[in-house]
Amino acid sequence: MLNVKLQDALNKQINAEFFSAYMYLSMSAHFSAVNLNGMAGWMREQAREELTHATKMYDYVHARGGTVTLTTIEAPQQKWNSPLDVFQHAYGHEQQVTAMINNLVDLAIAEKDHASHNMLQWYISEQVEEEETFSEVLEKIRMVNNDASGLLMINKEMALRQFTPPAK
Ligand code: FEO
Repeated sequence: MLNVKLQDALNKQINAEFFSAYMYLSMSAHFSAVNLNGMAGWMREQAREELTHATKMYDYVHARGGTVTLTTIEAPQQKWNSPLDVFQHAYGHEQQVTAMINNLVDLAIAEKDHASHNMLQWYISEQVEEEETFSEVLEKIRMVNNDASGLLMINKEMALRQFTPPAK
């Protein structure tokens, strides 16, 4: 049985993962509006990935006999000044999510909840990938320095992304 402190913290993280999906979908809508459809598609795949982060934790809370409480999802930002602005925001967001996951691990250790600690290791590894993915795109965008042909090349390359949901 999940203790109440862990249950509350995991419910907050479920909300944060849904917020991530919502934020990346907003970034996708922004890219569609400025005709960068490759980046729009890439962000839409990212939003799909975030939904799996939320539902994996949701399933875990149920598996431990806990209660999932879904709360209001904050409205995301809707406009950005440039692709660089979007990816700086996204990378900073992922760093914050990493800090949240680390705090959850600290709590699982403090509460001697070994099952939660074990489950959270998946998210620890996932955040390494998330930060690497966003940092790579950010570096490419920095490299082209708002040059239109460079951005269009990155946009074309990003259109290829397809998210494959993880096995349960
Ligand atoms: Fe759910 Fe992008 O971390």
